[in-house]
Amino acid sequence: MKPDGDSLEPLRKAARLCVLKFGGSVLTNLSAYAEAAAETYRHIRSGEKTIVIVSALHGETDGLYDEAEKVGAGCSPEARARLVRLGEFRSAALMGLALERIGVRAAVVDPHEIGLYAEGDPLDADLCGLDVNRLAEKVEQADAVIVPGFTASHAEAGAAVLGRGGTDLTAVVFAAKSGAQRVRLIKDVDGVYTDDPAKNPNAGRYDRLDYAAALKASNGLIQDKAIRAAEAEGVILEVAAMGAAEATRVLPGPAVIGAARGRRRQRVALLGCGSVGSGVLDHVRQRRDLFALNPVLVRHPEMRAGDRRASFTSQGAEALAGGPDLLVEMMGGADDPAALMADALEAGVHVVTANKAAVAKHFDKLHDAARRGGARFEYSAAVGGGAPMIETVRRLQPVGVSAVEGVMNGTANFILSRLGEGEAFEDALAEAQRLGFAEADPSADVDGHDAADKLSILIREAFGVALPPERIAKRSLSEITPDMCAAAAEEGKVYKQIARAWRVPGGAVDAEVAIEPVALSHPFAGARNEQNRALVTDSHGRVHAVYGKGAGRWPTAAAVFADMMDIQRASACDGGSVSASPVHTSAEPARPRLQRA
Ligand code: HSE
Repeated sequence: MKPDGDSLEPLRKAARLCVLKFGGSVLTNLSAYAEAAAETYRHIRSGEKTIVIVSALHGETDGLYDEAEKVGAGCSPEARARLVRLGEFRSAALMGLALERIGVRAAVVDPHEIGLYAEGDPLDADLCGLDVNRLAEKVEQADAVIVPGFTASHAEAGAAVLGRGGTDLTAVVFAAKSGAQRVRLIKDVDGVYTDDPAKNPNAGRYDRLDYAAALKASNGLIQDKAIRAAEAEGVILEVAAMGAAEATRVLPGPAVIGAARGRRRQRVALLGCGSVGSGVLDHVRQRRDLFALNPVLVRHPEMRAGDRRASFTSQGAEALAGGPDLLVEMMGGADDPAALMADALEAGVHVVTANKAAVAKHFDKLHDAARRGGARFEYSAAVGGGAPMIETVRRLQPVGVSAVEGVMNGTANFILSRLGEGEAFEDALAEAQRLGFAEADPSADVDGHDAADKLSILIREAFGVALPPERIAKRSLSEITPDMCAAAAEEGKVYKQIARAWRVPGGAVDAEVAIEPVALSHPFAGARNEQNRALVTDSHGRVHAVYGKGAGRWPTAAAVFADMMDIQRASACDGGSVSASPVHTSAEPARPRLQRA
């Protein structure tokens, strides 16, 4: 592809950048978009920006080629290209919805918005232009930029497609032009094999192989044109399954066949199935290849008779039967769940929770138990919901953090947004409760206790200092009236609850949960409704922004599930393999493994 001479600098400066490509082999049904969104979120929470290239839903492009044949046999390639490209547009829009639902800042872009051009046969075209500066603007404003693969604008024909499997080519070109650190092609197999593993059980999985070997071995798994383009552009390809740590890498150098690996199914005890727990249950059901679910602990199993997703029990012993590997605590409260989690951790059971009250109050006890039991204790969702605040301060540990502040309570933010629109306090609170954002005891949100719990955890993570929530000064929402909001609006300001902590000379940390007007230009002013935002200042004075939705079923469940998947991956790396066969990641029946994306 021709270089267009545009500077790559804006993109290089933006962040670590990753191109992810989801093929039709993994986008098998509408539920798969939630899993693809979860996979994208995993990269974002690890500090990468993502360009997400999508294929059409499985089988849809075949259907469109058939339609083109039925309605327009013998018609021009450009007329047929206009039809067969539509699956990718629909898929990109679905991916945008799935990401927005979990609170990721996502932007869906059509080819013409980023000057993506192809030339040659409109049904088998080659990409020839991409406006990198326009792409950089999109990347600047979003954590995930979603692009329909396989299709581009065409100077003469108007629209073109890139040949079967062309989404791989789109991904390679975006990686080459954006200077992305990696391009990962997500398939329904965990890499490239020496032979079709469905037919030959002795087929080996390559850890790495060069482009020429990939052309021979891929057998349509990766588009040939994409492999050639990757070689020409010096792009290293990763071929991986959804949610997997391992990948086959295609790059110059000798081929290496890896040791056979597999992933052990982990037994999960899910305690609590309210709004968030129910979202977690949906994820777990989609990954039955990785997780086996015990009966789910709920107060009233008799009220779950119509819910076919799991069996339900009110008996703790049943929920914890069979020695679970992983306990997911979604019960609420502080002391009881903390005692239960501590026992589990001490017994070597990994624990994931979103329970900020329990984590804030029993931080040392829980971490000590995890250390003693050799278990992992994860609670990303406890702070910021789907906004990766804990991950961000942990990532900055080598540099050090000097201050952190943020909008950390979705309910308070929701109420303040509504008060600013003239709504009554009680109506706004009732709406937040209806939407599942608010705590069981609304004073936790209204009086700043929930934000203080989250801040107390962040202070531990950022500064390694114990500052219990009750020692953090808090202002109550009940002090804020619609008149105060209106007066602030006249000055071009908006009220926000802001939890902040900062190092003071001598090494101590000060903290508060404030409610104050901020200018509309302030980054927190744009946080609407249940959105959370944080600004983390590192010890070099650089400010790192974090975005996401801080409350609600889907964002919170996404963060819980991301923790679960981290634990799953780590146990696979620990040699927890019991299977020598390649992992088939979909809950669908196994299909031939080496198939086109
Ligand atoms: N009540 C909390 C909030 C739920 O509104 O942010 C998420 O922690």
